[in-house]
Amino acid sequence: MRVLVTGGAGYIGSHTVLTLLEAGHDVVALDSLANASPESLRRVGDLAGREVDLRVVDLLDEQGLTDAVVDARPDAVVHFAGLKAVGESVAEPERYYRTNVGGTLNLVRAMDAAGCRTMAFSSSATVYGRVTQVPIREDAPLGATNPYGWSKFMVEQVLRDVAAADERWAVGLLRYFNPVGAHPSGRIGEDPTGTPNNLVPFIAQVAVGRHERLVVHGGDYDTVDGTGVRDYIHVVDLAEGHLAALERLTTTAGAHAWNLGTGRGSSVLEVVAAFSAACGHEVPYEVRDRRPGDVAASYADPALAASELGWTAERTLAQMCEDAWRWQSANPNGYAE
Ligand code: NAD
Ligand code: UD1
Repeated sequence: MRVLVTGGAGYIGSHTVLTLLEAGHDVVALDSLANASPESLRRVGDLAGREVDLRVVDLLDEQGLTDAVVDARPDAVVHFAGLKAVGESVAEPERYYRTNVGGTLNLVRAMDAAGCRTMAFSSSATVYGRVTQVPIREDAPLGATNPYGWSKFMVEQVLRDVAAADERWAVGLLRYFNPVGAHPSGRIGEDPTGTPNNLVPFIAQVAVGRHERLVVHGGDYDTVDGTGVRDYIHVVDLAEGHLAALERLTTTAGAHAWNLGTGRGSSVLEVVAAFSAACGHEVPYEVRDRRPGDVAASYADPALAASELGWTAERTLAQMCEDAWRWQSANPNGYAE
């Protein structure tokens, strides 16, 4: 299959490009490099033994995007490109809606022009809004708590409507839980700009000495040890989930939501312990107030992806932390060196 990967130079995109190449697919990556370095795909090329075809294009450049998609002649598109920082989305909602929703509308039009109507879209467990029941199934009520979350919610609706109106479309709405870790080579990984808000990248930076300690947001939740519980999933498992979804979408039309999670919840303190074991020293932390907007526990019911995609996440929390540590310690400043 020939696969166009938007946002291919980013964290999840670069791992997915590698998985696709290793499975023998042809890949064209498209990225504006707004939040990525081309070094990620240069290293993917080293690991895969073939150079990655990267087109530097912005989703908001409608003509440039159409030209690139038509020229790439994809059989399917994996659509990662977009903005993802929750706090930034609250401060700059218009930019988030324009990029995530408007950019996806441009992409749908460009794909139509190219005669390609198969898309796996990066959605998020954030579309479950205020979680009231765990584990979360795909038919749980949807909502959002910030503009980033609403942008994912809206794109899901757009893609469901597009698929309902034209039966040639096949769309996967892939709802990721908490992607963490890195490729086991330690060559590619997550390279956040500025201070990370997410737990594992922050812990990794504490472990290399870039911050003094982790602040644990809340120790009084109704969970195993009072700290928040999430479904952390290894980024390579997640990449493999995309491969499984694309295979399924080549034989099934319509729009389908699939949770990509492990089904196992881990608390903040369990992640701290696993990371401390991986890096060989205790990660210092202090427990403070809850973070506004956080839920106590969020984890997937991954049964639908198992039955419909034949995919389950295999890697453990220990592997996620070991691989995140290998990447972070070998590249303390990410791709910047
Ligand atoms: P990332 O920022 O590393 O990757 C996104 C990529 O999109 C970047 O390479 C960036 O340069 C590119 N991009 C941004 N705006 C663009 C534009 N206008 N045109 C073209 N390219 C553009 O983020 P990621 O963690 O790899 O996330 C990938 C996708 O998965 C995103 O859509 C994100 O919302 C979604 N997601 C991520 C997580 C997570 O925790 N990382 C969880 C759920 C969903
Ligand atoms: C966050 C976003 C969510 C997004 C997801 C991407 C919020 C409210 N939610 O989810 O929309 O889709 O990232 O992966 O921002 N924690 C600490 N200290 C820290 C950082 C985090 O204790 O410095 C705790 C949090 O309170 C939470 C857990 O660690 O219990 C995971 O946090 P995080 O990595 O930010 O992910 P989510 O909150 O699940």
